[in-house]
Amino acid sequence: MSTLKVKRPKGTQDITPSQIYKWNTVEETAKKVAQTYGFREIRIPVFEETGLFVRSVGDSTDVVQKEMYTVTASGDSQFTLRPEGTAGVMRAMIENGLLNESFPQKVFYNISCFRHEKPQAGRYREFHQFGCEMVGAAGPEADAEIICMISDILRMLGIKGVELNINSIGCSHCRLEYQNALKEYFSGRTEELCDTCRERLVRNPMRLLDCKSPVCSEIAKDAPVITDYLCCECAEHFEKLKSYLTALGIGFRVNPKIVRGLDYYTRTVFEFVTTDIGAQGTVFGGGRYDGLLEELGAKPCPALGFAVGLERLILVMEKQGLLFKEENGCEIYIAPIGEEAHKEAALLCRKLREAGFIAETDVMGRGLKAQMKYADKLGADYSVVIGTSELENGSACLKNMTTGEKRQLSLDENFSDAFADIFAADTLCGDELFDSGKGGR
Ligand code: HAM
Repeated sequence: MSTLKVKRPKGTQDITPSQIYKWNTVEETAKKVAQTYGFREIRIPVFEETGLFVRSVGDSTDVVQKEMYTVTASGDSQFTLRPEGTAGVMRAMIENGLLNESFPQKVFYNISCFRHEKPQAGRYREFHQFGCEMVGAAGPEADAEIICMISDILRMLGIKGVELNINSIGCSHCRLEYQNALKEYFSGRTEELCDTCRERLVRNPMRLLDCKSPVCSEIAKDAPVITDYLCCECAEHFEKLKSYLTALGIGFRVNPKIVRGLDYYTRTVFEFVTTDIGAQGTVFGGGRYDGLLEELGAKPCPALGFAVGLERLILVMEKQGLLFKEENGCEIYIAPIGEEAHKEAALLCRKLREAGFIAETDVMGRGLKAQMKYADKLGADYSVVIGTSELENGSACLKNMTTGEKRQLSLDENFSDAFADIFAADTLCGDELFDSGKGGR
């Protein structure tokens, strides 16, 4: 029988142990910043009823029309792997009564998302988002706070040169007049539009501004812009947001072309964009979606948020040569020779681990030479060899693998305390952006 050779699906990535420290760096930093702003974690299912995304993301968006992974389970229900987090988080907030608690409600999430897009650098079919949503706050100071949080994440990671673009796409009032202006503009060139956009022109002309086809996007370049159609309240909201950002010292560019690829947005929309990682340069995206909760059956309630693609965030950091927080490696390797020594090593390792050290010993039946080679490969900070004479004497030699310094330690219940003292004395506390973590024990 031939063997089955399976490869990972197109557009997905394996994250191996040698790369995970990069992920931990960005995830932990984003989480830490969100927590300082009072956001708390929420976890939601990987799949939802398809109708949730059709209703919230919008049935004339690329995401719903072309990119959803939808499955039908036995029975009638249709489920879709989440293409983004906002819809599921809003569903969960309604379902769990979070809207009955005090406002603003602030949550963050760290999730995988799925979109059937054409894979390229920075664009995947399975990707990961860290996102924050704030519910209950209508004023522009909330928009400024969300944007400020993103700029803090970028600062904490050391990222530079990611430009903030903002726009207001108004409310349903101002949008009515704008949609008519767009219909008038595009209807003169219907023949040139792609099939999807011809249909969009009738149902949702703003979606034409987001089409990826080169012909449609060329035509869209000279289309009317929403900022010329904002009602007084929306214009005032936008002006105030700009003044808050200025007061916070956050640079921005007003880009009236930003409409975002999802239908739920109202008023503020924004993107943090870089030229460092090629065509897929939008790293953070978000905005206000004041109508979504009502659309999903809840009482009307303003809301806003953002999500960042973690793959893109890591790509930018790699491109800019930034530091990721290294994982701690093996701190002490105990090399036993003989069965009795193996038992003693297992016991000592257990004690050391209880005290929080990363301790390893032989589980491969290797000889001493091979064990020391392995300890070197692990980059162990210290090693101890335990053979017959060490067992008889009740003491063994602890070797600092970097300096070569040796010390005799008793093999008794004080072993891990004695090791902890030596470890602490040898560890220098650095004050780099991401220290090794060893100084913090
Ligand atoms: P989005 O702009 O569709 O917004 O996605 C947010 C971020 O996810 C993008 O800026 C990008 O970094 C990343 N991303 C999107 N698609 C892909 C892909 N195929 N491969 C890799 N990364 C990707 C949303 O999803 C909204 N839910 C954001 C939001 C939250 N708005 C309000 N609250």
